[in-house]
Amino acid sequence: MKSYYKVLSSSMFSLMLLSSGISGVQAAEQPQSQVNGPAVTTDNSGVQISAVQEQTPMLVDQASIPAVIQAMTLDEKVDLIGGAGAAVTGAAGGTFAIPRLGIPKLTFADGPAGLRFGSTANKSTTGFPIPSALSASFNKDIMYQVSSAMGKETLDYGVDVILGPALNIHRDPRGGRNFEYYSEDPLLSGEMAAEFTKGVQDQGVGVSMKHYAANNQETNRQSVNEVISERALREIYLAGFERVVKEAHPWTVMSSYNSINGPFSAHNSWLLNDVLRSDWGFNGMVMTDWGGSKQNGVAMLNGGNDLSMPSLNAVGKAAVKAAILDGSLQEEKLDTAIENILNLVVKSPTFKKLSTVDDAKQSVSADLAAANAKLSREAAPEGMVLLKNKNKALPFNDTVKKVGIVGNSYTMPSCGFGTPASACTTDNAASKMFLMGTGSAYVTPTHSVQLPEGLKNGGYIPVSTNASGAEINENLTAEDAAYMAQNSDIGVIVIARGSGEGADGNDTTFEPSEKESELIKKVSDAYHAVNKKVVVVLNVGAPFNTVNWRNSVDSILLSWQPGMEAGNALTDVLSGKANPSGKLPATFPVKLEDSPSYANFPSSDGNPNLVNYKEDIYVGYRYYSTFNVKPAYEFGYGLSYTTFDYSDFKLNKDSLSNKIKVQFKVTNSGSLAGKEAPQLYVSAPDGKLEKPAIELKAFGKTRELKPGQKETFNFFIDPKDIASFDESTSSWIVEKGTYQFKIGASSSDIRGTLNFKVDKDIIAEIVNANGPDVQLATLSKYNQ
Ligand code: BGC
Repeated sequence: MKSYYKVLSSSMFSLMLLSSGISGVQAAEQPQSQVNGPAVTTDNSGVQISAVQEQTPMLVDQASIPAVIQAMTLDEKVDLIGGAGAAVTGAAGGTFAIPRLGIPKLTFADGPAGLRFGSTANKSTTGFPIPSALSASFNKDIMYQVSSAMGKETLDYGVDVILGPALNIHRDPRGGRNFEYYSEDPLLSGEMAAEFTKGVQDQGVGVSMKHYAANNQETNRQSVNEVISERALREIYLAGFERVVKEAHPWTVMSSYNSINGPFSAHNSWLLNDVLRSDWGFNGMVMTDWGGSKQNGVAMLNGGNDLSMPSLNAVGKAAVKAAILDGSLQEEKLDTAIENILNLVVKSPTFKKLSTVDDAKQSVSADLAAANAKLSREAAPEGMVLLKNKNKALPFNDTVKKVGIVGNSYTMPSCGFGTPASACTTDNAASKMFLMGTGSAYVTPTHSVQLPEGLKNGGYIPVSTNASGAEINENLTAEDAAYMAQNSDIGVIVIARGSGEGADGNDTTFEPSEKESELIKKVSDAYHAVNKKVVVVLNVGAPFNTVNWRNSVDSILLSWQPGMEAGNALTDVLSGKANPSGKLPATFPVKLEDSPSYANFPSSDGNPNLVNYKEDIYVGYRYYSTFNVKPAYEFGYGLSYTTFDYSDFKLNKDSLSNKIKVQFKVTNSGSLAGKEAPQLYVSAPDGKLEKPAIELKAFGKTRELKPGQKETFNFFIDPKDIASFDESTSSWIVEKGTYQFKIGASSSDIRGTLNFKVDKDIIAEIVNANGPDVQLATLSKYNQ
């Protein structure tokens, strides 16, 4: 059996004995002392001595945890449930160290878009494409590669946990952190976040899956109460988190700031104890978002949240101590939190000595930096979405040498915590795009490449001056535009919007301004007048309105915020070196008012601290497809420089009882190599529960297919995958009836349909029955 105790080293022991006048030789001959007590022993002459050999339980592995907890004082326990600063300057926070018990300090750093240190820390890392861009790739493999790279950088800097993936739902196009999250769909979000988790954790460092749950807006995020039916929670807002827990076993979870149906997430026992731990089997550690415990350690422990970040203040600690001493809080709850924290400690790279902290380090190691810059460049085109490409305006044809570029100027309404002001503004988006989002998703990049430089690297000549040699911007005149058009072979207009933590968007973030509309018109008119083409690059992190201007341009490429290699990656796509293969992870509506959440974002009934999720399960395309509201560009949409045929649709059986296999083929039917992201939707019959018209149930991505090449897909679907949540029985059910699988290139471009039957009702899973009692009139097909 393993010893939980670390015996004082022989040199320390000798020292103690020497100071009491006894020689080391003599001491070595003495009998061993008792654990945890003064050793009373005798010397050779029989004189009694009272050397003390304390044996303190030390944290050596998971098995040692119970003894260490037992040896902790109440003060030490209370200290450990509050964060205590990071070992690496600029990291977001860390845990409390107790050296006497062998408990080291762990360090946590943001975030979901790359390893982040505060901008004053002077530590650079790789800036990858934003999470929405990565999820637009519909490519789990690229997600895994990017997150593995982030994990390696995390280890390289001596950080233990990266504070991501962030997978709240794009409930509304105005969500300020949508760029940092994955999708309006929980399956896409959950699958991408699971890959993120696997990629990071396979490097030996942990993730913190955040923000659990429903942190879908920034406005009043600390105080807002989100009223959401249990069905919408289970099917939409929690489903991605469930997938990550079950598929990828994240080491930690971060609870969100907001309240859900009453209690704050960090105090919400249903959310943390009943759902996360009991229903899903999560056995890791839960930390609050920064300040999310509201310094109420008692409510936090009762809620099942283990650690208050970045700290628990003196009042909060005193309250926990007092509650334990007067019996109003069971010490077992504190011990459970300690156990969860120590379980994390023993897994950590710091504890295992897989990494060391060198706080003078200013950049990721050179080999990682080079490999990851290359990866960032390769990942970006996978998520870029070609929204329009009239007459194959893209890729550039062989006659294109000079590229006219101009862009808007934009300053974000709120800069996002800790972001340098320069990253929150574009003077002229063509020469200074937004490379990433801001706030905790901002990283100080190892280097950056803007579009003019990328074009030059690609052998093109960027043209962005007027007749008098001044750089043109959104204030250009018709003459400037004409000069540009004459002096270049194609026009590229970059329209930029940045966003970040702390603020939501609004009409002005979604709509082009008058000046931007004029910019697009002037440049398009000038180029078209001389028979040249015009491309708009959308450098945005969330849906943007294209409806009023899309007819005046030839191509629209949604580049997102493509990361630090933006200029090179965009040039790869514009030139055709890379074929864009992204698909929209969120619907682009015709107008904001079309969004199902419009009237209840970011508040309801005039109460800034209340949001009623009246749209219920009808989020994103579930709403547009069910209620026949035509979007500008639908979920899953994205063109390519080539075309794809879908064929050979097959099911391995015609009724579902346990697992059913859907098979089909995708063939590159065009003339350029490219990748395609096929999507599998299900249409279920209405029964006891009403159903959205379609729901995404699986997706994939081909390898790069050359013209004529094909790839076969096999998707396996089981009852839980297509079940809906029945609040009345606290269970996931599949009702009997005729169902359809719809295989598509987008949510409306359906290429094949297969019918199957469910012969009798199936209960796929029964969950905890303590669900919230929500009184809310929700949107229904039947109350229109
Ligand atoms: C954000 C988290 C982040 C934390 C630490 C909070 O403001 O909401 O996403 O991980 O700060 O930087």
